[in-house]
Amino acid sequence: MIKTQNLSFEYERGIPILDSIDISVQEHEKVGIIGANGAGKSTLLKIFVGLLDKYHGDVRVLGYSVEKKNYAKIREQVSYMFQDSDNQLFMPTALEDIEFALRNYKKSEQEIKQSVDYAIKATGCADLINKSVWKMSGGEKKLVCIATMLATKPKIMLLDEPTNSLDPFNRKNLIDIIKSLKSTVVIASHDLDMILDTCDRVILMNNGKIIATGECMEILSNRELLESNRLLLPISLTKKSEL
Ligand SMILES: Nc1ncnc2c1ncn2[C@@H]1O[C@H](COP(=O)(O)OP(=O)(O)OP(=O)(O)O)[C@@H](O)[C@H]1O
Ligand SMILES: [Mg+2]
Repeated sequence: MIKTQNLSFEYERGIPILDSIDISVQEHEKVGIIGANGAGKSTLLKIFVGLLDKYHGDVRVLGYSVEKKNYAKIREQVSYMFQDSDNQLFMPTALEDIEFALRNYKKSEQEIKQSVDYAIKATGCADLINKSVWKMSGGEKKLVCIATMLATKPKIMLLDEPTNSLDPFNRKNLIDIIKSLKSTVVIASHDLDMILDTCDRVILMNNGKIIATGECMEILSNRELLESNRLLLPISLTKKSEL
């Protein structure tokens, strides 16, 4: 579903941000991308949907090479959550944001209603749909972003810090939603407990490089590996006396 070969990227000349990244994500797989602040996680996700185009190497999503002529085909089937919800929501109300992609892809009114109802119910954001986005709290905006993604029933979901700002109830609900998804899912997050709960595999990044990849438990229980990359064990794997 996603494959990169020798992917490198720099925002400014001479400052490498991604360095020779080789990644392969299979259909229906759920993969967590972890790494300290500035490791390059968000940059990597943005490249997958064509938001950063001047990369080197080969990047394929759903078999399409990620380049301008394929952006529309890729974006129709790949849903991307920005780390900052303010970059994602731009319509006057939440409902219009949730409907936006569906209207853009000329879905029928019946299909739009069904998909929107499903997304609102799954996220529990019914009380928010007529609210202006600029009047919402951070967590409320996050919920609406999740609803906009679910409504399109994408083949691939790219989630950048999806649990940020969510209260414990909504965080748990999101974890249950992610677990139930049939889509291929890639999650960049510092919420290692959520990654442990939802993902099959983890990719650990540091300074634009892949340091390790493996099954969740193998990577997330390796204290030495995590700490040497400025991360800590998930809380659920930390002894009470150490918290
Ligand atoms: N628009 C930009 N121009 C220049 N440098 C940038 C830009 N965006 C990000 N960077 C730099 O690229 C590096 C990787 O940033 P990125 O946002 O991908 O990291 P991240 O792993 O998602 O971090 P975080 O955990 O803080 O979200 C950082 O050093 C950052 O300062
Ligand atoms: Mg980030």
